[in-house]
Amino acid sequence: MSKRIKEEIAIIILAAGKSTRMKSEVPKVLHKLCGRPMLGYVLDLVASLKPAQAVAVLGHKQELVRKFVPSGIKIAIQKKLIGTADAVKVGLAALKGFKGTVLILYGDIPLLKNQTIKKLLDYHLQNNADVTLLTAQLKEPFGYGRIMRDKYSGICGIVEEKDADEVQKDIKEINTGIMAFKKDKLSANLGTIRPNNQKKEYYLTDIIEILAKKNCLVEGLKIKDAQEALGINTRAELAKANAIIQKTINDKLMQDGITIIDPASTFINFGTKIGKDTVIYPFTVIERDVKIGKRCFVGPFAHLRDGVRLGDDVTAGNFIEMVRSRIGAKTFVKHFSYLGDSSVGANVNIGAGTVTANFDGQNKNSTVIKDNVNIGSDTVIVAPVKIGRSAITGAGTVVTKNIPDKTVVVGVPGRILRKR
Ligand code: UD1
Ligand code: MG
Repeated sequence: MSKRIKEEIAIIILAAGKSTRMKSEVPKVLHKLCGRPMLGYVLDLVASLKPAQAVAVLGHKQELVRKFVPSGIKIAIQKKLIGTADAVKVGLAALKGFKGTVLILYGDIPLLKNQTIKKLLDYHLQNNADVTLLTAQLKEPFGYGRIMRDKYSGICGIVEEKDADEVQKDIKEINTGIMAFKKDKLSANLGTIRPNNQKKEYYLTDIIEILAKKNCLVEGLKIKDAQEALGINTRAELAKANAIIQKTINDKLMQDGITIIDPASTFINFGTKIGKDTVIYPFTVIERDVKIGKRCFVGPFAHLRDGVRLGDDVTAGNFIEMVRSRIGAKTFVKHFSYLGDSSVGANVNIGAGTVTANFDGQNKNSTVIKDNVNIGSDTVIVAPVKIGRSAITGAGTVVTKNIPDKTVVVGVPGRILRKR
């Protein structure tokens, strides 16, 4: 089956829309879920389906969005954002010489699973349908297009929230937006859609009634887990999807042998790598591109930002902020410290309240701390600076100059006291 699907599927991803309901300058599909633009999740799904062709339809701020589209996916530009039917038309024009099944995905539906789409495609092909919709049963269907069924319970149309009457608003079966079409049926009928609705837009959803009236075979497959179909139009829906993805990330880490004491208060970005037997304490935030070794202790209240690398057996304890820093094995950074643009060796002890002053107002400067160093409490390290192997700083030292190996420094600014 999978071979057959590979030969026959082309995917159109609709991602041209504005973020009107997000009330944002940022295009909706670039809003982040666990540190990653929502479009990234949709594009992963596309890659996992291995389509013969795929095209992303971009429009609003397309110059920003296109950077996130990998080279295997074509880009088509919708000039005027006049509705999903027009967006599909633009996408179709980019699918050169394709005959087969066209799958429509939306850039604002990031939780869909590969198995669900495969089921939809199998169902579509097995039934030899002209179009198959992925539908969902929701307790609160507000905002979604409602599925209209005729007296034989066949799908005969979709009515959008804004155009629905009171009876239609009561319908709990909704259009997820995901549809599989026979390409010729889609292209032959798209042009007949008219913007006869509240928003004066060309709705793709209108094609269902058009096809049903022509006695084409319109099928529907109801999704098992309605959560997968969550469409993100608002900040509240963004937060809801974020929580779902966060749970998946945390569950997977725990499965892989990491202790997360309180998953509900632990925020770990997509793509974070953590070694076995590491313990993450509550109220920890781990951002983009972070790698943590084995048997580490992180948090509580730790903030590990972009580009942090912790070796094995590291403690990054209470109220720690780190960014663009490497910490060597068996190093302790236990209490309220800020390490930025730092390279710290192995077996180092960073005393409570240590701060790297890495920003001089214009540039970010780096700090190097070699192996076996002991940084006294409340040391301020004014970068750029290097602290040699086995050096010691006294409590409250302000380090402004490089410190040779095995040297003890004290004072403000730090002056050499003696050789160890
Ligand atoms: C759409 C569906 C609705 C469905 C819901 C599922 C239509 C008319 N309605 O509503 O039935 O229940 O999704 O989440 O399709 N887009 C473009 N160009 C445009 C307009 C939109 O590319 O001119 C893109 C958007 O970027 C987005 C997708 O199409 O990724 C859907 O648009 P959106 O405005 O979010 O539609 P909904 O109101 O959510
Ligand atoms: Mg939407």
